[in-house]
Amino acid sequence: MATDAINRRAKRLREAIEYHNYRYYVLDDPEISDAEYDRMMRELEKLEADYPELYDPNSPTQRIGAPPLEEFEAVTHTIPMLSLANGQNEIEVREFDQRVKRFLGMDGDITYVTELKLDGLAVELVYERGDLVVGSTRGDGVNGENIIQNLRTIKTIPLTLIGKEIPVPERLEVRGEVYMEVEGFKELNKKREALGERLFANPRNAAAGSLRQLDPSITAGRPLNIFFYGLGEVVGHTFTMHWQFLNTLPHWGLRANPLARQCQDIDEAIGYYNEISQQRESLPYEIDGVVIKVDDLDLQSRLGVISRNPRWALAYKFKPKQETTKILKIIPQVGRTGAITPVAELEPVRVGGIEISRATLHNQDEIDKKDVRIGDTVIVQRAGDVIPEVVKMVESKRTGGERRYQIPDRCPVCGADVVRLENEAAHRCIGLSCPAQLKGRIKHFASKRAMDIDGLGDKLVAQLVDNGMVRDVAGLYHLSKEDLAGLERMADKSAQNILDAIERSKKKPLAKFIYALGVRHVGGHLSEVLANELKSLSNLSRVTEEELVAIKEVGPEVAQSVVRFFRDQQNRKIIERLQKAGLAVIEPGVDEVAKLKGLTFVFTGTLEFFSRDEARDLVESLEGKTASGVSKKVDYVVVGSDPGSKYERAKELGITVLTENQFREMVE
Ligand code: IVH
Repeated sequence: MATDAINRRAKRLREAIEYHNYRYYVLDDPEISDAEYDRMMRELEKLEADYPELYDPNSPTQRIGAPPLEEFEAVTHTIPMLSLANGQNEIEVREFDQRVKRFLGMDGDITYVTELKLDGLAVELVYERGDLVVGSTRGDGVNGENIIQNLRTIKTIPLTLIGKEIPVPERLEVRGEVYMEVEGFKELNKKREALGERLFANPRNAAAGSLRQLDPSITAGRPLNIFFYGLGEVVGHTFTMHWQFLNTLPHWGLRANPLARQCQDIDEAIGYYNEISQQRESLPYEIDGVVIKVDDLDLQSRLGVISRNPRWALAYKFKPKQETTKILKIIPQVGRTGAITPVAELEPVRVGGIEISRATLHNQDEIDKKDVRIGDTVIVQRAGDVIPEVVKMVESKRTGGERRYQIPDRCPVCGADVVRLENEAAHRCIGLSCPAQLKGRIKHFASKRAMDIDGLGDKLVAQLVDNGMVRDVAGLYHLSKEDLAGLERMADKSAQNILDAIERSKKKPLAKFIYALGVRHVGGHLSEVLANELKSLSNLSRVTEEELVAIKEVGPEVAQSVVRFFRDQQNRKIIERLQKAGLAVIEPGVDEVAKLKGLTFVFTGTLEFFSRDEARDLVESLEGKTASGVSKKVDYVVVGSDPGSKYERAKELGITVLTENQFREMVE
């Protein structure tokens, strides 16, 4: 049992860590070294491990690590979370000011607080006696979802409020915007692109997608941040002005945006808008306007709410970054995953200060829905910091000479079939050798869960493809040492290591090979299923959709994708080339006896389960070979306890090392 002293120590540590966290992440002004911070964290972790009764979900050790949820719990906001009425121009803003005065029956100027209108997601946090107890989305304004475990992963959200200078209220409901900085957003998309994952359209979507994760460990990896700007219910503290509220937030450790301003009248508020418009592009995050709020909270409550919008606030929106121009051409662009995006080539036009000459049309459905044709006059916009898009065509400018567009059924880059799978918006090129997809495909082919070709990193793949040395995955098996050694920054030894790794990859289980092919919708697990059910590559290449859907776990989308993949002539050729290059996948069960055919094993150390002789006999009975010394010809070194120099040698040569259990799994 934790003694009082231990309880106090844990409490002290938590408070101190939370405070230093705030200094570091919110103020960007740490008072202690990272090492000192880490030391406190480790001490707390140890205490909590030794005394499980100290568990507290708001301990700084618990930010990450909550288990995934099945679904989010519903939360009813004590006070509804409203939305804002919009003003599009100065006239509408002055009308707002007039309305406020008329409603209040006041002649004099109204004091306003002006803030950035952040483009993220509204959330509400509830603190009871300083402890974070609920964190929810806005939802429909009345009911939201409790996403507290995701919000806890955001380092600038205090798990407990700081009460050093201003005592924390009994209860505080505080609202803010979760957002992603533009840089972080770009990085995230870059990573997703490399993994062949769907890209986020803009930072707002990325932030939203990140918060909606049922598994908080995913949210934890996303660069999210928060600014607080609003109040729900407060018990045990009185505010009279919104400005006072904003200035109190940092004392409790809550981040408020430093660009907010108190304005004496509406002219000053309009001046603020003009200033911020100038700064907009240089801010690290996206905003879509400014918010003008009546400062006095008494006046706010007198003004009240009308149709879900408070009468005391207005969103003064920036003009959408839209312009009108003409579509000269539509070109199909093949992305790294084979998705084909129709891109409009435009008569160049300046939108929001930047000249654009291309805009995305997303996919065929969008083209059809918007009825956009070549030669059309269209409205284009820059949505945040991403690729410009075509919003709509201008019907009144139609001349009759416009031409409809249809994504071609052959890939414009490689000529392979273009298909559109069920339930997908995108058309895709399914060519295995498509240069547009090649780097991604090769990386996937060589990845650990696929053919596991060690050393084939991003840079090397880029070099091989850009120099035309590898035109499809089969090309890897035709590389020579001279080819590789000729590359920039490639030592002889690394060239040899890579060749060895490529050589070793020739014998991989069928499932890994299927996965390596990167057939759409066929991931690691389904590859296993297909391998076990179909047993051989030749069966797989002849299988029909009916046969596939008869397999448990295989749905019509997968079936269609598999059949189309293996029907494509180019893909068939590449598989043939792979086989000619010596690729001999190990097919499950077809020939049980020859399971280890072509593989050479070395044993070292003391085995527990088998004697050396038994192990050797077993390998030979499955048509494998054994050797006494480790050389490059060896495929696996099986290591028992107290292994000798053979183990070291295997590691040096990069030969796959198996434990005795792994070996048993392999032969059983
Ligand atoms: S005040 C009743 N302040 O805009 C007041 N909202 O259209 C409602 N937003 O859902 C919120 N920055 O997601 C307020 N400084 C700011 C804001 C802001 C962004 C968002 C928020 C809200 C939406 C209202």
